[in-house]
Amino acid sequence: MTDKVVLVKANQLMKTYPGNVQALDGVNLTIHEGEFLSIMGPSGSGKSTLLNLIGALDQPTSGEVFVAGESVAGIQDLDRFRSRTVGFVFQLHNLLPTLTARENVEIPMFERRLPSSSSTGSRPPTPGRGGPCPQGQSHPCPSFRR
Ligand SMILES: Nc1ncnc2c1ncn2[C@@H]1O[C@H](COP(=O)(O)OP(=O)(O)O)[C@@H](O)[C@H]1O
Ligand SMILES: [Mg+2]
Repeated sequence: MTDKVVLVKANQLMKTYPGNVQALDGVNLTIHEGEFLSIMGPSGSGKSTLLNLIGALDQPTSGEVFVAGESVAGIQDLDRFRSRTVGFVFQLHNLLPTLTARENVEIPMFERRLPSSSSTGSRPPTPGRGGPCPQGQSHPCPSFRR
């Protein structure tokens, strides 16, 4: 037993896609505050499906997910949840080529209408493995592009 705060709880999660593809079959999961967890499994075993449900990007066929004590199914303001509660880094970078590297990093702040100086103070971010993007003002580096 631990008295740490439960951040993510999944109860009997099932996900069936059209074509009767059963991606998740009764997943139970508890993640506590401060835990660092890797979800591993072969391609097609349901990792992305599970993350999509935790991140409120998709809905389970049955079962329930709680994040920070809140039932994901009951969230009214998904924009707020996605910008303040869960950070989701996609497998593909999905950077917007028309925005600079810094603006791409700042996208989650748009909903909060924070000044860009609150993201990193005076130091612009250097995202990913694409090599240095001077001052974050470059558009996504060529190595980001697919
Ligand atoms: N949108 C979808 N429609 C139909 N089947 C899907 C969809 N997304 C994933 N699947 C199927 O669900 C199963 C689990 O996929 P996925 O969660 O992407 O696995 P993983 O991330 O572990 O590779 C696979 O059989 C996959 O083909
Ligand atoms: Mg995947």
